[in-house]
Amino acid sequence: MSKLPLDRILQSQGFGTRKYCRELIHGGEVEISGEVVTDSQTSLITDDLEFSVFDEPYRYREHVYIALNKPADIECSRKPSHHPSVFGLLPEQFSRRDVQPVGRLDHDTTGLLLLSDDGAFIHAQSSPKRHVPKVYVATTHEPVTPQLVAQLLGGVKLHDEPAPLAAVTCCMIAPNQIEIVLEQGKYHQVKRMLAAAGNHCTALRRTEIGQLKLATLNLREGEWCYLENKQIKLLKDGS
Ligand code: URA
Repeated sequence: MSKLPLDRILQSQGFGTRKYCRELIHGGEVEISGEVVTDSQTSLITDDLEFSVFDEPYRYREHVYIALNKPADIECSRKPSHHPSVFGLLPEQFSRRDVQPVGRLDHDTTGLLLLSDDGAFIHAQSSPKRHVPKVYVATTHEPVTPQLVAQLLGGVKLHDEPAPLAAVTCCMIAPNQIEIVLEQGKYHQVKRMLAAAGNHCTALRRTEIGQLKLATLNLREGEWCYLENKQIKLLKDGS
């Protein structure tokens, strides 16, 4: 259990510099349990602390774990080159607390993207040693054939990769669509694997990461939500 002064609490939650957080407090913009608190040094237990800033309710979170249903034509980079950044879809507080995507999706890939400011979580989820399965639905230019599925399951050789890369599972779900599960997260991996197998990916959507399914989150494209403890545990434990 940790106790912190209110200005530090607001700063840790991404409301701005300590000076700015003090100004918010002194200006009467911060309420706790419906009471305005104007002493920036008020010491509070952070666990489950609820407060409001400019009448918006918040809950203290030591770290944030976010799921976004990423639309197309959005880049995962903070400094994008050709399309708007994914951070434009999220509150500014997240950038200030250094929230990062957990692995990137291509600008034209849609679907489940995780973001967090928990470095250990990001590292563990991205580590090849963890073998976190990621499920993609890929639309193909040429019809899907049993040979294509067999090639992806058997492994295809990609330029710059020493060993062939294989899908964990792969099945045809429509004449021009496969569901493919990968454990690695190599650059453009699904697209490159399809190209190496003689087809071409025309659309790509990530639907699951580990045990977390995008469909259960009820997010429209461009919407995000906090992951709750149970979902975070599922990702962390991989069970
Ligand atoms: N594979 C790709 O080719 N692109 C992505 O964005 C993710 C996986």
